[in-house]
Amino acid sequence: MTVAHIRQKFLEFFQQKGHTIIPSASLIPENDPTVLFTTAGMHPLVPYLLGEKHPGGKRLVSVQKCLRTDDIEEVGDNRHLTFFEMLGNWSLGDYFKREAIEWSFEFLTDPTWLGIDPTRLFVTVFEGDQDAPRDEESIGIWQTLFLNRAKIRAEVGERIGLYPKKKNWWGPAGQTGPCGPDTEIFYDTGRAHDPAFGLKCHQNCDCGRFVEIWNNVFMEYEKQEDGTFKPLQQKNVDTGMGLERIAAVMQNVPTVFDTEIFQNIFNKIEVLSGKRYTSETERPFRIIADHIRAAVFIIGDQHGVSPSNVGQGYIVRRLLRRAIREGRRLGIKEPLTHQIALVIIGEFGTHYQELETNLVRIVSELKQEEQKFEKTLEKGMKEFKKILIEPIDNLVKNEQKHLTGEQAFMLFSTYGFPWELTEEILREHGIMVDRKAFEKEFKKHQELSRTASAGKFKGGLADHSVETTRLHTATHLLHRALKNVLGDHVEQKGSNITAERLRFDFSHPMKVTVEQLKQVEDMVNDIIQQDLPVRFEEMTVEEAKKRGAIGLFEEKYGEKIKVYFIGNDATDFSKEICGGPHVTHTGELGSFKIQKEEAVSAGVRRIKATLS
Ligand code: ALA
Repeated sequence: MTVAHIRQKFLEFFQQKGHTIIPSASLIPENDPTVLFTTAGMHPLVPYLLGEKHPGGKRLVSVQKCLRTDDIEEVGDNRHLTFFEMLGNWSLGDYFKREAIEWSFEFLTDPTWLGIDPTRLFVTVFEGDQDAPRDEESIGIWQTLFLNRAKIRAEVGERIGLYPKKKNWWGPAGQTGPCGPDTEIFYDTGRAHDPAFGLKCHQNCDCGRFVEIWNNVFMEYEKQEDGTFKPLQQKNVDTGMGLERIAAVMQNVPTVFDTEIFQNIFNKIEVLSGKRYTSETERPFRIIADHIRAAVFIIGDQHGVSPSNVGQGYIVRRLLRRAIREGRRLGIKEPLTHQIALVIIGEFGTHYQELETNLVRIVSELKQEEQKFEKTLEKGMKEFKKILIEPIDNLVKNEQKHLTGEQAFMLFSTYGFPWELTEEILREHGIMVDRKAFEKEFKKHQELSRTASAGKFKGGLADHSVETTRLHTATHLLHRALKNVLGDHVEQKGSNITAERLRFDFSHPMKVTVEQLKQVEDMVNDIIQQDLPVRFEEMTVEEAKKRGAIGLFEEKYGEKIKVYFIGNDATDFSKEICGGPHVTHTGELGSFKIQKEEAVSAGVRRIKATLS
């Protein structure tokens, strides 16, 4: 069963159960400072999990593009990927545990759908603690299902494993918001248990016998500021199944890299390198395939991001540079990223049309980035010799096998030498770098510091604090004012809001002059002073267009969307497609100030602004 076939079956199954199919949202989260990328299917649905009405109704299903960067160093083993596709179904205050679990079981085991042998399925359930009780309801539902449908007596502690929050609870780490116990479904590969991992094998054992395939989260609590858990009014279901993993199960292959989607990519790497994909070369092959696939999806996204030294752009750069380096190690001399990208677009472009639409841009960005990196490597290598090889003798003499954080940062800031590479190359020379010192140095200089802290790479809920809500409304005013002052070619290219400032990227071919910036700022402050009302209406995409709404959110919501209006009925200053939230009157914004205007890439400018 191919990946394309599984995607289609999943959507069809849940459509038959009354779910609305929603398209994959962008990989780049809009207006959400807590994550750099969409890390789970629930991410774009946060406002609706918090109680807003979704135009698609209370039952939704999707195949969502996801990217997780916290495991980047693990890629190359048999199961880690950065980019992956997540199959998910949602109940927004509609069905709950019984239907969710029964449908998971039906989809996985019924011969009409995946037809997996139920004796291969093992599950886990939340064991309970001081915050929430053991999830008896889920245990009961699983036991009945296994017994009635498969004549299997599912014992607690055996087929139904019980685990604490660390394993069976899903929600924003360390943050407030909706969360709850989950029940995970594992597939038994039948591999013998390896006693090196403990006496007894169990679902979460790391020996590799069990593979987690599907997670059903029951969002029935809301974590409060004081750390307590309050039962939620609207009880949601949020599920996620990794498409590549379930494909590996269905194709009866040992790893995600053995599924059909990677074969053409590996063939291309074999042709380019003249090396075969074997147990000796699998690591570089997998890194190249995974990283270039991720980069293609980020650059080719509906809100595509180019390689750069900050935020998401830095992740793209890092992915590409690791891939190129692995390619060089395999002996590939010619530019490889765009050649492999073409194979990837061939493989995924039918389902993800944006890759085909953006093909020319993807290829040219990759070529440019690879050229830049070649130059960087050349310069960096020279510098390495100067600052490293020469003092190496001294370091060795002094038994001080260390490069200081400042030296490592200098390589990064002056020559664009990525930190990971610095560390890798040095390690090859038996030299250590003071990572903490480098990071300290890095944080001083780079914006990334805001997002680099572990939690922000993980899935989590948007921060809907008063500050970010105010800045969000200010972003709409800025967007409109830029169009009014600079012209209609201005289009949103990205937006990021923290509690302190807004950041808005937009298309414009040249530097915005001081006079223009002043005009924009004055226009926004004028609207603020008029204390105009902010309201929204729900309508179809077509109607929104007819009424002159701006915004790039079309594909995200499917049929009906929300449009936020700022102004008095007849003369709205701003009309923008958006999920919210916003303030109710512009007067709440106070005073608007543009702090900085700069280039992000060719044809894209960035403004940072604050409210006081
Ligand atoms: N949001 C849940 C997860 O990512 C389903 O595992």
